[in-house]
Amino acid sequence: MMIELKNIEKININDFQHDLISWFKAEQRDLPWRKDRDPYKVWVSEIMLQQTRVDTVIPYFNRFIDWFPTIDDLAEAEEDKVLKAWEGLGYYSRVRNLQSAVREVKEKYNGEVPNTPEVISTLKGVGPYTAGAILSIAYGIPEPAVDGNVMRVFSRILNIWEDIAKPSSRKVFEHAVREMISHEDPSAFNQALMELGALVCTPTSPSCLLCPVREHCQAFEEGVQAELPIKTKKNKTRDVQLAAVLLTDEEGRILIHKRPSDGLLANLWEFPNVEIQHPLHHEREKISELFEQELQIHLKLEKIIGQLEHVFSHLVWNIKIYNGELQSNIPEGSDWKLVTLDEIKDYAFPVPYQKMFKIYLEYSNRPDPNAAKA
Ligand code: ADE
Repeated sequence: MMIELKNIEKININDFQHDLISWFKAEQRDLPWRKDRDPYKVWVSEIMLQQTRVDTVIPYFNRFIDWFPTIDDLAEAEEDKVLKAWEGLGYYSRVRNLQSAVREVKEKYNGEVPNTPEVISTLKGVGPYTAGAILSIAYGIPEPAVDGNVMRVFSRILNIWEDIAKPSSRKVFEHAVREMISHEDPSAFNQALMELGALVCTPTSPSCLLCPVREHCQAFEEGVQAELPIKTKKNKTRDVQLAAVLLTDEEGRILIHKRPSDGLLANLWEFPNVEIQHPLHHEREKISELFEQELQIHLKLEKIIGQLEHVFSHLVWNIKIYNGELQSNIPEGSDWKLVTLDEIKDYAFPVPYQKMFKIYLEYSNRPDPNAAKA
């Protein structure tokens, strides 16, 4: 496919590279994944940084590398521990894919992260962005690493009006980066674009007066930087109503359930819950019936102890939270467990269930096992 970039000839590419890279070398943030060029650490950081802000990622990255310092450590780790390390970051398939890919690297490539686009792209979860980021940052190979931030920056530099929400647009931006990337220092070039997108060329009101490449910027020249990038809105999210219950047995242990191994939040733990239709008449009885029919649990629902909303990328959970007593044996199978307050902290729960647990602790005046540890 021929991609025409009508403004590229207006830019002196050497000067652009020089201005961008010198700025990066002077101004870059001190981030833990920039301490060395270990391809494994670059890989972990790039996966974490997808959909997640730098400030949030830093402590997760440090702990992850502390728990799993090498490819071998991650390849050999229990999945439950890996999910625990990711607990709260969301998009958990990222870490499941990372672990399968790391296992493949250990077995098939002697523990060396592949250093060609063709091979690295066959690894699970390694799309064109991640491939380009690892190849350029860890191996100094001039490959584009185009994510939403880089598309924003380049839409302004080259005054490109493609809709960046369309998957097909990525090709246009990859082509632009290929034309402009530094072959002397692809690592600094790509990281500088990320840094510029984070610190200067921000989504709303970019700080053009501080921009090291303003004199190259075609959108600035035309005064249209605030109108770019073009990004159409995603589809609306779907609302789901749930009733979840924190059930205790006569010894005060809590019933938890492991989610199925595919679908949303796969293999994470949760408190028993059912989807409900609103409004429900005789809600309490209906909910008890649903628990019996769908989960084979007999219980006595006590109070509504709270309510919470959690927004995912494509849906919203509205959870009505009950406490209650378990009045039957726990269901068969290893995906159900009764745990003490001390044991529960070893299981990985998605954020809405962490919030639910906090609400329960406050309501019941039981000590917070995580706080007690600190
Ligand atoms: N966003 C994505 N990758 C990044 C990196 N390596 N450094 C800072 N921000 C990023």
